[in-house]
Amino acid sequence: MASPSKSLEVIVLAAGKGTRMRSHLPKVLHQIGGRPLLAHVLDTAHALEAGRVHVVYGHGGEQVPTVINDSSVNWVLQEQQHGTGHAVAQAMPGVDPAALVLVLYGDVPLIRSKTLHQLVERAEAGALALLTMELSDAGAYGRIVRDAQGNITSIVEKKDADSEQLAIREINTGFLAAPAEKLRHWLSRLSNDNAQGEYYLTDIVAMAVDEGYSVVSENPAKVTEIEGINSKAELARMERTYQSEQTDALMEQGLTLRDPARFDLRGELSIGRDVVIDVNVIVEGKVELGDNVHIGPNTLLRDVVVGADSEVLANCVLEQANVGKGCRIGPFARLRPGAALADNVHVGNFVEIKNSEIGEGSKVNHLAYVGDSKVGTNVNVGAGAITANYDGANKHQTVIEDGASVGANSVMVAPVAIGKNATLAAGTILRKDAPAGELTLSAGKQRSIKGWKRPTKNK
Ligand code: UD1
Ligand code: CA
Repeated sequence: MASPSKSLEVIVLAAGKGTRMRSHLPKVLHQIGGRPLLAHVLDTAHALEAGRVHVVYGHGGEQVPTVINDSSVNWVLQEQQHGTGHAVAQAMPGVDPAALVLVLYGDVPLIRSKTLHQLVERAEAGALALLTMELSDAGAYGRIVRDAQGNITSIVEKKDADSEQLAIREINTGFLAAPAEKLRHWLSRLSNDNAQGEYYLTDIVAMAVDEGYSVVSENPAKVTEIEGINSKAELARMERTYQSEQTDALMEQGLTLRDPARFDLRGELSIGRDVVIDVNVIVEGKVELGDNVHIGPNTLLRDVVVGADSEVLANCVLEQANVGKGCRIGPFARLRPGAALADNVHVGNFVEIKNSEIGEGSKVNHLAYVGDSKVGTNVNVGAGAITANYDGANKHQTVIEDGASVGANSVMVAPVAIGKNATLAAGTILRKDAPAGELTLSAGKQRSIKGWKRPTKNK
């Protein structure tokens, strides 16, 4: 996208309390796709290559700058909310008079940079450019008033509109672009003599028209671009809209989603060819799935890489883990941070792996815990085996070398090492290293008590 010739500065209005959210959290910090509404808007602003981005936040919104943590933003506090015109005016002292200003909204997250770019281009040509749209129900939006020739003459807020104006279906989305110098001049002339006693940004339109300055309109491609969020119900609907935009894009790339309505991406997903994702899968953070990866139902993937031809069966939780090629995980497996599986590893049901390398071809198939370990190639960890990696104060490492076999229900009390091709008998409590190639047992000799009788009930 070519950057505008005149330097562009963006003002984001984000001071609204969001009373209807019924929350202590400032409205613009509520999330869609796992990120604050305002973060989405800032992404779009940055995509426009704006020279400077100013965010007007409100009293009670002190945590907004901290949570958003974007050092490129000029944060402007609007102590009291006297209207959209007042809000924009708060940011103007920080704006270069030679710049072009674009006004965005912190609670309208799905506006597309392409639409805004068109709006900015119209303003660049020497106009006050408004983003407007025809709706079948104009609702509470400001109405775009045009003369007989179809030229815009003003915007009338719903609360100030007469019955004829109320019937107008072309609405003000709120998005606009204008030269900073003009904007500053108009804002200085605003009054709050209206139904709400507010300084309306929209009043600049009639001023521009009075001065013979051109006022033009652009339209967004979709209504969802201009929809704001005022309630939890709207937030939930917006989430679905956002998710369906993401799933459309992913399916376009070739992803098979068993049901796009039952998939949530809260981050970035990159996929190879022929990736299949079953229902109720949540992807968070940065996730990479190689060619031919299959993800089973009810699975959470957070910051993971899964190599080609690997399969994650139903009901798994994988977080900050690396899975090689041709692996089989689950059902009901948990890979915790630092789990690094080489190729062709099998991790089965009710197995937890944390901060451990598992070598190629190794299997941990049932009810096991492997933590802080280095496991070689072709190792078999039997059912119920666990590493006792924590002594109550410190964590210790377990090393299991290539080809070793850990018997069912063994406890490896770390720090401890199991040599190459060693075998641990079932139920071994390993407190010392197990030598390579040998069988190690820790239990006493098995014995049976001759003539022993089961207790019986007294009659
Ligand atoms: C405004 C427009 C209206 C338009 C509508 C689109 C005005 C006067 N009216 O309505 O024509 O159809 O948006 O949604 O501009 N805000 C502040 N500080 C304030 C007041 C508002 O930061 O003092 C922010 C709010 O957080 C919100 C945005 O500005 O993000 C719009 O405010 P809101 O009250 O929702 O819109 P209206 O003024 O009712
Ligand atoms: Ca208002």
